[in-house]
Amino acid sequence: MTTAPQLKIAGIAGSLRKGSFNRAALKAAVELAPAGMTIEIVELGTLPLYNDDIRVEGYPPAVHAYRETIRAADGVLFATPEFNYSVSAPLKNAIDWGSRIPDPPYVGKATAIISASVSPVGGVRAQYHLRHMCVSLNCFCMNQPQVYIGDAAKKFDANLKLIDAGVREELIKFLAAFRDYVIRLQR
Ligand SMILES: Cc1cc2nc3c(=O)[nH]c(=O)nc-3n(C[C@H](O)[C@H](O)[C@H](O)COP(=O)(O)O)c2cc1C
Repeated sequence: MTTAPQLKIAGIAGSLRKGSFNRAALKAAVELAPAGMTIEIVELGTLPLYNDDIRVEGYPPAVHAYRETIRAADGVLFATPEFNYSVSAPLKNAIDWGSRIPDPPYVGKATAIISASVSPVGGVRAQYHLRHMCVSLNCFCMNQPQVYIGDAAKKFDANLKLIDAGVREELIKFLAAFRDYVIRLQR
């Protein structure tokens, strides 16, 4: 009898704030992940601001741990806020640390993006920029389906639980598609 592979996905929320809708969306993804997929949330708050002098001296422990977590994952799920039409500084910082030699950990990795914003457009512009960065990282970002959570304050309750039935349904389909995408890339 063959057993389905158990995929490990690293979930990266590009917001440091406690009440982040993007981390809340990732937590919903943890709950709604299909059979055969687990998502572990990676926190970015311990990463220093990128400075190439630091890299030359050797990756600090927090950066090393982050890079190895990405390397060990079968795929990466980004949940990006939109700050001034692009990704947040903490997410860009994590991408920069993850892009450097030796053995940059995103190369060849399956990735996918969701976003949440209080605006009606739900972070669509940040997603566009992040897709562009995925080209530079040389990872493989899933094109479709796409999930943008607009008017986020109405989609989560006071405990940051995703309560919007439509978005929950979209996320379930998105995660199943991502599982299939990761498996397809691994073949
Ligand atoms: C500095 C700053 C810039 C922002 N720029 C945008 C923007 O360009 N587009 C947008 O939809 N929301 C923008 N917002 C609103 C954020 O999307 C909103 O605060 C969101 O909830 C942040 O994500 P989080 O809840 O995961 O922390 C901005 C917020 C901040 C603090």
